[in-house]
Amino acid sequence: MAEILLAISILIIVLVITIPTLYGFLTGAPILFSPKKVIGDALKVIRFEKGENFYDLGMGSGRSLIAADRLELNATGFELSPLIYWFAKFNLFINGVKKANLYLCNFYHQDLSNADIVFCFLTPPAMERLKPKFEKELKSGARVVSYAFKIKGWEEYQVLDCAPPGKIYIYVME
Ligand SMILES: C[S@@+](CC[C@H](N)C(=O)[O-])C[C@H]1O[C@@H](n2cnc3c(N)ncnc32)[C@H](O)[C@@H]1O
Repeated sequence: MAEILLAISILIIVLVITIPTLYGFLTGAPILFSPKKVIGDALKVIRFEKGENFYDLGMGSGRSLIAADRLELNATGFELSPLIYWFAKFNLFINGVKKANLYLCNFYHQDLSNADIVFCFLTPPAMERLKPKFEKELKSGARVVSYAFKIKGWEEYQVLDCAPPGKIYIYVME
């Protein structure tokens, strides 16, 4: 009996971890981390003020949040995979980040109206899906930074060449 309960518990834990991770993979992006210099390069060319709200949609390891926090931005990250979420929490902790807001949730369901800067490293279908959400929710002057994938039909404010595999596309909301 104890063995059956143990097996069921392990199965539940595995499902709780793998289902959201798989869902994120299929609807958002696989778990890949952007090169460390990406967010630093992007923040060098974006005009921002201390205390502005920086969001990473699919924060992965949270490395963009660490960079944003060091520049005194108010960092917020969303992540669907529980494993990656806890990894990001640990990563921010060992990097001395105390103020960031981390949410284990689906970013498609979050309100983005308070964001000043939105960072994404996702996929072309995910950017296509986010486009109407950005148009509806982001305030005028908000900046969208998309690593590797452009937003079709939007005019870039700047395109930066960065480490492979891609460029950094920066947009400013009208
Ligand atoms: C390519 S990684 C980028 C990680 C990080 N932003 C970086 O640049 O290093 C994409 C992340 O988004 C997460 N993700 C995918 N779909 C998501 C969703 N709908 N809601 C929240 N997170 C999602 C994945 O689990 C993965 O960790």
